[in-house]
Amino acid sequence: MSTTRIGTAVVPAAGLGTRFLPATKSVPKELLPVVDTPAIELVAAEAAEAGADRLVIVTSEGKDGVVTHFTEDPVLERALHAGGKSHLLEKVRRAQGLLAVESVVQDEPRGLGHAVACAEPVLRDDEDAIAVLLPDDLVMPRGVLETMARVRASRGGSVLCAIDVPKDQISAYGVFDVAAARGLGDDLVQAPGTSDPDVLQVVGMVEKPTVEDAPSTLAAAGRYLLDRAIFDALRRTLPGKGGELQLTDAIALLIDEGHPVHVVVHRGGRHDLGNPGGYLRAAVDVALSHDEYGPPLRRWLDERLGRGAGTFDPGATVADARG
Ligand code: G1P
Repeated sequence: MSTTRIGTAVVPAAGLGTRFLPATKSVPKELLPVVDTPAIELVAAEAAEAGADRLVIVTSEGKDGVVTHFTEDPVLERALHAGGKSHLLEKVRRAQGLLAVESVVQDEPRGLGHAVACAEPVLRDDEDAIAVLLPDDLVMPRGVLETMARVRASRGGSVLCAIDVPKDQISAYGVFDVAAARGLGDDLVQAPGTSDPDVLQVVGMVEKPTVEDAPSTLAAAGRYLLDRAIFDALRRTLPGKGGELQLTDAIALLIDEGHPVHVVVHRGGRHDLGNPGGYLRAAVDVALSHDEYGPPLRRWLDERLGRGAGTFDPGATVADARG
């Protein structure tokens, strides 16, 4: 089956991480670990697996550590080597071996669309599409980008990842109006000519609509394979929701102009790493399938929850517990 080659993957990482303060006062949220691996390395690995050879991180002042994570640390590596800690050495070297990493600076927080636009000057002339991965979104299992690349190869245009979210949460997302779902309520039907029922044609997109105005419950899940035409559309897009330049609005403009846009509906898991609640769920989810940490964590959780959540006082001392 033919596929679109993914060369450059763009990762917007310029945000202030306000939902995660005070941790993000000095540590960029993209460096917070999911078990032991920072979110930025997880998306880099996902992009590399999908064939990307370059990661362009859109960063802002004070967030240099996000890029530093991908540079060699000779002192640390020598120390681990001398101590015979080959397992740790392998972990430390993993990020720098994934793909080439460079950064561009977004000097003002002007929205996701503006962040993506910042990557245009560093694109190679022969690249007709880019992947965009939002590091707040942990999409599991991996592999959706590969499916999206195959959809672009057969249908052209741009392809995005969608997840079906509960209606009362839809206002937190960019929401798709999909051709086959129009007028059919929740009963999604295959798009005409589509062999995969989880590939749908998009006829409109709206950023963070009210529940009443949401055209469906299919939400953008932070994975985009965008035709280079997006940059021209971004230049012609006015600030939208929150006064920011929204990527969603530029995609909506492309759709209005006849550019093909499809979604691959991801039926697996997805976590929002950008807030403590979502981050905790992601950490537990990933840890539960970890060879080393999974089994003891599962036992502990069973025990902890079995004792009756809510009756346990985390502030109590051991002496209190003993009575
Ligand atoms: C961004 C996008 C939104 C998308 C979401 C996915 O919103 O603007 O369209 O659905 O990411 O996580 P944010 O969560 O950054 O406000």
